[in-house]
Amino acid sequence: MQNLNRRSILTLGAALGLVAATDAPKAWAWSSADSIAGTDTVTDPWEVWDDDTDPLVAALLDNGQVPAVNEAFESWIDNGDPLPGGLPSELTSYLMEVNTLPSWADPVKLDRAAQFNKRMSMYLFLLYGLGSGIMSTVIPREARNVYWSEGGADMQARAAKTFTYGYDLSALDAFKPTGKFVVTSHKTRLTHAAVRHLLPQSPAWLAATDHPIPISNGDILITFHSLGTYVHGKLREWRGWGLRMSAAEEEAYLHMWQVALHLLGVRDEFIPATWAAAHEQSRYVLTPLLAPTPEGVDLADILLNLVSQVDLGVTRGFQREFARYVLSDKIGNWLRLPRDYVSRGVIEVGWPAYVLFREGLSPIMPETFSTFDRFVRGLAMLFLSKGSSATHTPITIPTGNRPG
Ligand code: HEM
Repeated sequence: MQNLNRRSILTLGAALGLVAATDAPKAWAWSSADSIAGTDTVTDPWEVWDDDTDPLVAALLDNGQVPAVNEAFESWIDNGDPLPGGLPSELTSYLMEVNTLPSWADPVKLDRAAQFNKRMSMYLFLLYGLGSGIMSTVIPREARNVYWSEGGADMQARAAKTFTYGYDLSALDAFKPTGKFVVTSHKTRLTHAAVRHLLPQSPAWLAATDHPIPISNGDILITFHSLGTYVHGKLREWRGWGLRMSAAEEEAYLHMWQVALHLLGVRDEFIPATWAAAHEQSRYVLTPLLAPTPEGVDLADILLNLVSQVDLGVTRGFQREFARYVLSDKIGNWLRLPRDYVSRGVIEVGWPAYVLFREGLSPIMPETFSTFDRFVRGLAMLFLSKGSSATHTPITIPTGNRPG
């Protein structure tokens, strides 16, 4: 019943031109001079998808081959694993082509990024989880795509798969033969290609969207900025409280994301070459597009409730205030996150004090240290337990949309 109401509201909203009003990005004018490719051209990434992958996956879906592919993929986990046998020959040829790092990937920088991830892990779990994760719900196109795709009906499973991506990316051997991230990226790229074929067949999604094909290169860049660029900005901000981050580490962290974007099928001409270029692109593509949608409000609530299932030693009010604190009250209000002004006061004073003490810049342990420490460690454990090999949730290519 709830879904029916939601659908009628969305359909009515779309008919009145209300629902998709905030989606449409302005014309692209970001020059690729500041990109990895370094060519001074202007191509609109919202009109670029994945020509190498999309027709292949569309054919696999139309021929009913995806379940067998997912089954064969079960044994393909580590980067060093041989390609599984029994795959359709076109898929094997495609994987042989793409299953390599770009020529510009720098193993020294990737190693440095891995060490940085390890040292910063507590802050990264917190920022990816409560920052980027919730921010994704105020990126209208992403919220609608996630909501109306197959995985939108089971956000717990979807969150576990997303954890798999984050965990594999953050592992010390992420890009090495013993790591898993390259394989996970290929599976994700294939999943995105499937979504491009499937969502346009969903009447509910079509009624709510402003663009007939989802997950363009431009959309992926926006999501990257809600992850890498956002986290980089926050870590820089928190440097004022003693966080150490060298220029080489900053560069390495960007490099890791550049390679990750390449593996997801983003063209080099759109991938920012420096943090300055990334932040400029983010101001241009992410900030003006953030907006609430009925789907996003629902997804944020589901995601925050998933976090609340774990005992982090703080109240739900505290968690929601922390999300507001790292994202802004504007976003918190959009998502209708309830207020808890007492917790907010504790966070405003206690979080900087916690970071200062943790980083060894203050000799005085703040009274609230144990509260924050339990909270941060609890979030880390949630992330690590979902990403550990025992519970590593494999990414599977969907074969349908959200039912109903
Ligand atoms: C699936 C990561 C960008 C929409 C996935 C999955 C991962 C992932 C790991 C597989 C897990 C799953 O199936 O739930 C990423 C990363 C991105 C990115 C790292 C950019 C840096 C986007 C964008 C959109 C999007 C821009 C939409 C605008 C989806 C959808 C699914 C998916 C709809 C499928 C969910 C399902 O199974 O039904 N993505 N994604 N993603 N992604 Fe992305």
